[in-house]
Amino acid sequence: MNPVSLTAVSTTANIVNSADAPHASTDALLQQLQGAPVPKHIAIIMDGNGRWARSRHMPRPFGHRAGMKAVRAVVEASIAAGVEWLSLFAFSQENWQRPQPEISALMSLLEEYIQSELRELREQGVRIRVHGDLSRLNAAAAAAVERAVAETAHCTRLGLNLFISYGGRAELVRAMQLVAKDVQAGVITPEQVDEDTIRARLFTQDCPDPDLLIRTSGERRLSNFMLWQVAYAELYISNVLWPDFDRTALFEAILDFQGRDRRFGKVDK
Ligand code: IPE
Ligand code: IPE
Ligand code: MG
Repeated sequence: MNPVSLTAVSTTANIVNSADAPHASTDALLQQLQGAPVPKHIAIIMDGNGRWARSRHMPRPFGHRAGMKAVRAVVEASIAAGVEWLSLFAFSQENWQRPQPEISALMSLLEEYIQSELRELREQGVRIRVHGDLSRLNAAAAAAVERAVAETAHCTRLGLNLFISYGGRAELVRAMQLVAKDVQAGVITPEQVDEDTIRARLFTQDCPDPDLLIRTSGERRLSNFMLWQVAYAELYISNVLWPDFDRTALFEAILDFQGRDRRFGKVDK
């Protein structure tokens, strides 16, 4: 049993990683993390763009733009580390309540991201999927999303799930409606409904649950993200604001994960 992980759950100092901690070189970190299994699936709540902009006396969209660079860095670092799935929370269902100019800026950035990165993502072998209530996207953003999904469908190196206009509870409601329809149609009986029945009706039906959930900007909540799927994810809270999250930060999170003792309710042998 790893004694570090036992104390980690009980002290804030250990679960919140200081942005000021001295960094070993990124290459050395990559080498180090390759000595142990890396998480198959990493999920990230990319938070702190607004605060990043405000600290520079700039409007919030400035922070969202800077956040695109971090997305790029984290996708590349995930591939380098051998991660198979990366889930990014880009825009929540609740974020529709933000001021219209900010929403418009975010939608334009989504288009811009796909426009400017799609070719490279495809060349890197990144298969994009987009999950959420996409009926609320404007036509241009919806078309960009559709193109990204279609043009990377054959890629196999990294599965990139982008959660846009997404809420975890809404995803579960949708799954329940699908189950109810199948029961009504006589495809399954109520007694046959089990965890696999629900899992098969989630957006992430063909992807394993996240092993590691990262949230940046020091906030310690799920904000309605992947509620079903993160049941046994290891949580990693980083104080770094999303636009500053980079390759080194991701490798540090993976190394921290590798020191955890995942028991899944059992006792250590
Ligand atoms: C995360 O950054 C991006 C989105 C939610 C779209 P925020 O915009 O939430 O930034 P803060 O939390 O206000 O700093
Ligand atoms: C969660 O961040 C959503 C995304 C990162 C896309 P928020 O900034 O919207 O969450 P709250 O409001 O702090 O819970
Ligand atoms: Mg936020």
